[in-house]
Amino acid sequence: SEKTLSNLVANLEDESDAVSPELLAREVSRRRNFAIISHPDAGKTTLTEKLLLYGGAIHEAGAVKARKNARHATSDWMELEKQRGISITSTALVFETHGRQITLLDTPGHQDFGEDTYRTLAAADNAVMLIDAGKGLEPQTRKLFEVVRMRKLPCFTFINKMDRPALEPLELVDQIEKEFGLATYPVNWPIGSGDRFIGVYHRPRNEVHLFTKEKHGTKAASTQIIPWGDDSLESLIPSELFAQLQEEVEMLNELSPPLDMEKIHSGDLSPVFFGSAMNNFGVELFLESFLEYGITPKAHESDLGEVDPDYPHFTGFVFKLQANMDPKHRDKVAFVRVCSGQFTRGMKVQLARNGKTIALTRPQKMFAQDRTTMETGYAGDVIGLNNPNAFCIGDTLFCGPRRLFPGIPSFSPELFSYMRNPNPSKYKQFLKGITELLGEGAVQVLYSVDSGRTDPILAAVGQLQFEVVQYRMQAEYGVETTLEPLGYSVARWVTGGWAALEKVGKLYNCATVKDQWGRPVLLFRNDWNVSQLLSDKPEIGELAPYALPP
Ligand code: G4P
Repeated sequence: SEKTLSNLVANLEDESDAVSPELLAREVSRRRNFAIISHPDAGKTTLTEKLLLYGGAIHEAGAVKARKNARHATSDWMELEKQRGISITSTALVFETHGRQITLLDTPGHQDFGEDTYRTLAAADNAVMLIDAGKGLEPQTRKLFEVVRMRKLPCFTFINKMDRPALEPLELVDQIEKEFGLATYPVNWPIGSGDRFIGVYHRPRNEVHLFTKEKHGTKAASTQIIPWGDDSLESLIPSELFAQLQEEVEMLNELSPPLDMEKIHSGDLSPVFFGSAMNNFGVELFLESFLEYGITPKAHESDLGEVDPDYPHFTGFVFKLQANMDPKHRDKVAFVRVCSGQFTRGMKVQLARNGKTIALTRPQKMFAQDRTTMETGYAGDVIGLNNPNAFCIGDTLFCGPRRLFPGIPSFSPELFSYMRNPNPSKYKQFLKGITELLGEGAVQVLYSVDSGRTDPILAAVGQLQFEVVQYRMQAEYGVETTLEPLGYSVARWVTGGWAALEKVGKLYNCATVKDQWGRPVLLFRNDWNVSQLLSDKPEIGELAPYALPP
């Protein structure tokens, strides 16, 4: 019949994007992608730059750093715009090295800490936890590590700034093990610290790497490689450092667990590296080991089961939306993580949310300041798409049979503020703005349940999110808004729903609100109040620090 025929044709068309599993397997196996998680100032910009230097993507360090400095240079609203511009170009840096394609996903640091930082980890297959050797674990590292754990990402640790006064290496490793409950495998071990940081012992290869500083660290450091046990070591390493190294190596060999790839890949064992990004010490070793131990793009859960990276049809999801702050060019870039199949420029895909077909024209790939058009892409790649207003955070794109990825969780916001529109004649624009900015994931929006107030509560993880929302409400929707901060700093989703809340009766020291899907959320002043409630009223059930879209 006509109907069967058209079904047949539709199915034939469905296959149009499919490519051979061999091609996919080949492309996927040479890809590695990762995001760096760190506290501001730990050296993320410096390490990024040095990885690009060793990866052969740049010839002299300085370019990435210059961008960061440029970002600090201006101070008015233009700065926000500029930051946005810079962030756009640095969302994903792609480079080829040792026959592999590496994608480094940028997690904005500093003042731009916001939900994007968390969401970027949804697109990553590996995480690199960067720690300042003089400071150990710091607050933002802790927060981001929680997401890494939730996503079960392999976590590599780079302990930076060993050329400065540092905590004892054992103490640093111990912090990670005790506080995060994460087993470690030190791949290399530092020889000395501060001025006397001269090299590392590389355990899997059983050799010593001694470094010589190059001026300003703009060029690769020269390294002397000597097998462990070689007589020359005694003359090359100052005697007390050598004695200490011998002792520590012996102890590591006794105490440290074996280098177990499966545990690394499941996020249960962190390979640890010591180095100095500024001086290029240990960066090359780290990059080589990462290429060896890091996982290739992995399968993604969907409503129809796991989607393997070599599944023949294109699938992907939007993990980040970035609006250009310039009101004259209202372009928005949607960043898509490719999960399977082959992406080609101009291809037509479907949007799972509304069934619309969208042509992926003007795709971009980023390197430093340059954006180039991307012709093809495979699992693990990030594409920037310029289709204004077509996408929401978490959207699934697919060819072939419809699939749905689970979406990106909302993480516990830490800042809460009523947003008011003092001008009633702007009510419509106000609502439109709030709705659109919510869809873009610029901010979370909650509504009070127990106070009777109808103003939306903006909820964010960083102050800059509020500033961006206010700025855009004014620039794009013509609404001047005011903020009225609330004294809460923790949000918890009541997993048992409204029924669980009713069961426990009146609550103290917290506010009851609902999220955009009408689910109950409690706001607390601090973590202590959360534990107090859980111990006073265990019947409330689980309180989750993040929630997936329903
Ligand atoms: P971030 O992106 O994580 O915020 O850190 P960034 O790389 O900008 O580094 C923060 C500061 O730490 C910079 O100093 C940088 O030079 C320094 N740094 C990074 N890696 C190392 C290292 O291995 N050893 C030492 N000693 N310092 C390191 P700054 O004074 O803020 O900037 P600059 O004047 O050096 O550029």
